[in-house]
Amino acid sequence: MHAPRMPAEATPLPQIAVTVSSKAGPDLRARARAQAAKWGVPFFDRPKKRGLARAENPFAAYLMLRGDGWVLRDASESLRFTPGMAQLRIKRWDDGDRDDVLVTLAQLKPGDEVLDCTFGLGADSLVCAHVVGKTGCVLGLEKSFPLAALAQVSVDSVKSPQAASIKVEWTDAASKLRTLPNQSFDVVLFDPMFAKPQTAAPHFSMFRRYASHDALTTEMVELARRVARRFVLIKGSRYSDDFKKLGVQETRTGRVANVMWARVNPAL
Ligand SMILES: C[S@@+](CC[C@H](N)C(=O)[O-])C[C@H]1O[C@@H](n2cnc3c(N)ncnc32)[C@H](O)[C@@H]1O
Repeated sequence: MHAPRMPAEATPLPQIAVTVSSKAGPDLRARARAQAAKWGVPFFDRPKKRGLARAENPFAAYLMLRGDGWVLRDASESLRFTPGMAQLRIKRWDDGDRDDVLVTLAQLKPGDEVLDCTFGLGADSLVCAHVVGKTGCVLGLEKSFPLAALAQVSVDSVKSPQAASIKVEWTDAASKLRTLPNQSFDVVLFDPMFAKPQTAAPHFSMFRRYASHDALTTEMVELARRVARRFVLIKGSRYSDDFKKLGVQETRTGRVANVMWARVNPAL
């Protein structure tokens, strides 16, 4: 079994394997095995009806294929890729409420190409994909392998029928940005992890444990300004001095919230 080729500066792999639910039959096992080979991670062929006790095997975490889709599982929690808040934002959009802050600030329109440098659980990308539609596209970059992998096998099943294609790459955003041609995306997004959690949602503690907590750097913003045709958007916490450190200013949205945005013009 080959170790997955780690993209430059991506977060190192935890001891992770692919497995199946305890009731999985041969079809599910074959699909999971094939996906494990694609990712280049071990496949743990879990015996039927056997729990995932840690003593039984050496893995700290699993990407598990169940009858109802993929989950990330470890000793204490499990995480599923769901549309989450994106579902509500998309419903509002479809109901004619055009007041989505990200969409408004980005001036998103059908056909746009969006680069989401901090994909996470994909809520922002799902909303962007819905708004830009089939003629547009979204590329998501995610530095954490478990989160990128979970998104890759789940995102198509949760996006709206009229959404653009969403591709997710396991990579460090700075490394990827360096390889992209000038002005190759309309909008480039950054939503780095905040030092303090913004939500107490049950799955969120697991998400925080697996996410990369790298701070955004001025170099990354400059790289993104070269790649963007229209804007670079940066989400930040009102209670941090991150924007000050990056030398960017809040763009007023008419809302007072814990979250604020900076909209930065392209370099060219
Ligand atoms: C706050 S979350 C993004 C949430 C996302 N906007 C959403 O709507 O679900 C930040 C994500 O960016 C990822 N990340 C942090 N630094 C990164 C980097 N340098 N390159 C790629 N991904 C990165 C983290 O692992 C985490 O999953």
